Amino acid sequence: MLKTELCGIKFENPLILAAGIMGSTASSLNWILDSGAGGVVTKSFSQESNQGYKNPTIAEVEGGIINAIGLSSPGLELFKEELKLIKRKGENSTRIAIASIYGSNPEEFSYLSKKIEGLVDMIELNVSCPHAMEGCGAAIGQDPHLTEKIVKTVSKSSSVPIIAKLTPNVTDINEIAIAAERGGADAITLINSLGPGMKISIETGVPILSNKFGGMSGPAIKPIALRCVWDVYEACNIPIIGVGGIINYKDVVEFLYAGASAIQIGTGIMYEGIEIFSKITTYLKKFMIKNDFNSIDEMTGYSHND
Ligand SMILES: Cc1cc2nc3c(=O)[nH]c(=O)nc-3n(C[C@H](O)[C@H](O)[C@H](O)COP(=O)(O)O)c2cc1C
Repeated sequence: MLKTELCGIKFENPLILAAGIMGSTASSLNWILDSGAGGVVTKSFSQESNQGYKNPTIAEVEGGIINAIGLSSPGLELFKEELKLIKRKGENSTRIAIASIYGSNPEEFSYLSKKIEGLVDMIELNVSCPHAMEGCGAAIGQDPHLTEKIVKTVSKSSSVPIIAKLTPNVTDINEIAIAAERGGADAITLINSLGPGMKISIETGVPILSNKFGGMSGPAIKPIALRCVWDVYEACNIPIIGVGGIINYKDVVEFLYAGASAIQIGTGIMYEGIEIFSKITTYLKKFMIKNDFNSIDEMTGYSHND
């Protein structure tokens, strides 16, 4: 009943680990898969290593957390060793591995994807990061032309489905999503963290994060993520993976009803532990039986009555 298909890839259930949370090593990714996730997304990595920001990089705030990790990455060669260790085949089940990559230009994204496509089932392009091409001041995912160019360069040569992960920090999310679809994205993930926001210690007067500002995630951003999924469902014809503030099965139902075909969970793990995946699948199944749904497909877009 929970089994579902996304871009031709078969998932045991629609719950996927979001990029950046417990996604740096094969052992934690395997642990999440063992605990009942249908798939996992790695932490975003780049071609060369990147140290990221100094600690503190995470702070708890009302309704969630703010983070400024700064896209720390061990680089392609080291990360490839982790990808090789992900156990992608269960005895009678699928265990879907999705690599999240970032770069500063289309060629770098394309180079990375070619190097890893044999090791994963799908690739998620983190075009929501602040590393813009030379001469272009805005973040990639705030520029429809750059987004389209990157997606096009990667997807035309990729042997696995390509997902574009978008930022909500734009005036018109549809403009960016349509550009990603035009570029050949097989699916869209909505949303990356919101903001940035900040927190200040009233004892010292100093901002808590070393970078001062950080992206907001957790329950407080759920209404915005949900609205992005709703809008893009109406504007595009490719599947949407919803993410942002999901902590229980009710949140999942809302995202499916808004138009998501699958969902990702990040900050929710900090609230509920990794049991969150098995807890949600149990209650989601009960909800589906009670409400006469036979498949995830039937729930996707349920609230759009046209
Ligand atoms: C600590 C932390 C690190 C993150 N790192 C990444 C990352 O490397 N790549 C990425 O695309 N998103 C990253 N994200 C964003 C999440 O994948 C997700 O889009 C966002 O947190 C909203 O979902 P949530 O409320 O379930 O956490 C990160 C989020 C957090 C909290």
